Amino acid sequence: MKIITSSEKNFCDEAVDCFIKAKKAVALTGAGVSVESGIDDFRSPGGLWSRYPPEEYGSIAVFRRNPEKSWKLFRALGRGLLGKKPNHAHLVLSDLERKGFLRGVITQNIDNLHQESGSENVLEIHGNHRYLQCLNCGDTSKPAASLLEDNSLPRCRWCGHILKPDVVLFGEDVRCYEEINDLLHHCDLLMVIGTSAQVYPAAALPEQVKLSGGMIYEFNIVKTALTNVQGNGSAHSDYFFQGGAASMLRHFRKRLEALTGQ
Ligand code: APR
Repeated sequence: MKIITSSEKNFCDEAVDCFIKAKKAVALTGAGVSVESGIDDFRSPGGLWSRYPPEEYGSIAVFRRNPEKSWKLFRALGRGLLGKKPNHAHLVLSDLERKGFLRGVITQNIDNLHQESGSENVLEIHGNHRYLQCLNCGDTSKPAASLLEDNSLPRCRWCGHILKPDVVLFGEDVRCYEEINDLLHHCDLLMVIGTSAQVYPAAALPEQVKLSGGMIYEFNIVKTALTNVQGNGSAHSDYFFQGGAASMLRHFRKRLEALTGQ
């Protein structure tokens, strides 16, 4: 595993050169890619889970038993997303897709910022906060503008059931897993950006690519389970871009342009 910082040039050009030669590069993102848009991640110090422990607020069992409690978390999440815009990390990824270097983005995030930055092939494994979901009749609907202000529980327009955001809670099945596996079929380079790689099945995707012979480019401010030595003594990440996702992806993009002219 080679560590790249914004001042490190040799390994970076080596990594960019492999990226150019990749046949099918895909990105997997987590909350860290949106931190520079002003959205707290979950597990860094002061992150959302330090205020709303997931086992107490974030599971489907809690929502069924005590929806008022779940809606405290949902409103905190929603308020944290208000007015947030894509940052350079999102913009670099959409540019790489437009230029044909990247096939798409698998994101664990629900903030819609990849789409707002222009990424087209975005697979949201944990859903999207822009809609509400009725678990009783299956209807999805746009939330009322007043949703975050008032304290009432939103109810389904058809069956009256209490609604939840159209996001995956702990204990629920993830979304678009078939499309994700199709996108990762023959993927020979996975950029893993801003994730602690602790939540499955998303956290298993880098190992899936690695085991089929692909390379892992990890972008994070700290080392994760992917970067540190695994049980068999080898890290999953081939290159570890150490720094904020926005600045490291801009650095990566600049070197790519220098080496390709694109
Ligand atoms: N640049 C790059 N990485 C960053 C930055 C940054 N500016 N800021 C934070 N990070 C890194 C953190 O070091 C951490 O490794 O982003 C990662 C965020 O990890 P988590 O908070 O665990 O978020 P994530 O990995 O997306 O969590 C996965 O868990 O709680 C569930 O559904 C939730 O989708 C979420 C899933």
